[in-house]
Amino acid sequence: MSDPDIKKGLAGVVVDTTAISKVNPETNSLLYRGYPVQELAATQPFEAVAYLLWHGELPTPEQLAAFEAQERAFRPLDPRTVALLDLIPAEAHPMDVLRTAVSQLGTFDASLNRPGGWTDRDLDFGRSVYLLAQIPTIVAAVQRRRWGLAPIPPRADLDYSTNFLWMTFGVLPSAAAVDVFRISMVLYAEHSFNASTFTARVIASTTSDLYSAVVGAIGALKGPLHGGANEAVMHIFEEIGSADRVVPWLDDALAHKRKIMGFGHRVYKRGDSRVPTMKAALDRLIADSGRTDLAELYATLESEFVARKGIYPNLDYPSGPAYHLLGFETEIFTPLFIAARVTGWTAHIMEQAASNALIRPLSAYDGVPERHIDGYVSDP
Ligand code: ACO
Repeated sequence: MSDPDIKKGLAGVVVDTTAISKVNPETNSLLYRGYPVQELAATQPFEAVAYLLWHGELPTPEQLAAFEAQERAFRPLDPRTVALLDLIPAEAHPMDVLRTAVSQLGTFDASLNRPGGWTDRDLDFGRSVYLLAQIPTIVAAVQRRRWGLAPIPPRADLDYSTNFLWMTFGVLPSAAAVDVFRISMVLYAEHSFNASTFTARVIASTTSDLYSAVVGAIGALKGPLHGGANEAVMHIFEEIGSADRVVPWLDDALAHKRKIMGFGHRVYKRGDSRVPTMKAALDRLIADSGRTDLAELYATLESEFVARKGIYPNLDYPSGPAYHLLGFETEIFTPLFIAARVTGWTAHIMEQAASNALIRPLSAYDGVPERHIDGYVSDP
């Protein structure tokens, strides 16, 4: 019998305070530093949202210009990163490639090598901008390598979202594509103590460095119960094929106790606050592409699953097909989530460091009782 004091999966446990975001499942709302995420998605460039998460306030026009200049200057890859990407097997999952490349970025930061360097938290803002700028260049290069194409260098005359799409596809994207991508980045940026953010905070709590914490968070995000779900949604769509096959597919999946990816949430039980905004963005792409088949499949699976289980879509449900319609390969979807969430992770790493307590919970032992090695005699 399980101990009632054990909160498996830390469900319902409040482990610390945070001033970065507030998830309120009762009102179905999500605030970043007090601002509803829908308002930020409707009005702000992703760069301004990153600044908000790190500094607590939206930037003034002057602050935004200085921040953008710093981010743009950090975009080009070090030749050693290009060489690293070439060394990694071409078939490796992009999440594993990105985890490895981000780890390498930490080794370029000479400030980590001097005594006290990695705990010099004043440097963490700059390190965070560096990761914000480098990750898109790496992700785009990984995508192009999978297509057998050479990387495209970043352009300093383009904003974050336009440049990301430019480096991936090699054509200037439409205003609608840029807007949908920007919205997805804003919505994915932050979500309180989710599994990957908590992982980052655990690592930061040992007074490890920011890069190590981000690498650990990438590992946590990879799983399909967390960030990997946006990729898994697309695999499910491919498996089902068309709207008329949803019912038999769902009957079979539920009979086999399969989890339906893109549905359910540990915190939201009546729907994810981010979904309506992302769904509206997806609808724009569907209208532009004429992919009514995808729209029908999406709507049928949603209505059938909600009717049967009362479990609602999470952000990964609309974002997966949106990234598909933007032209990304399915295996790149979770790296896109990282590109956004690195802002939230690093905000939490800095917050954890600012009022640190080592995160070290207890466990209840339920293994074999104490026993001894035959013939062992302890020292007198
Ligand atoms: N498909 C089928 N059944 C589900 C699903 C689902 N997507 N989600 C929950 N359930 C069922 C569970 O089987 C369980 O049923 P039971 O009580 O009969 O055993 C019940 O609902 C409770 O589910 P748990 O997994 O225990 O709830 P938890 O809070 O731990 O799960 C989670 C949250 C992990 C997100 C879950 O809903 C899930 O696995 N969803 C699919 C993966 C997914 O979409 N992840 C993305 C999360 S959001 C994000 O990262 C942006």
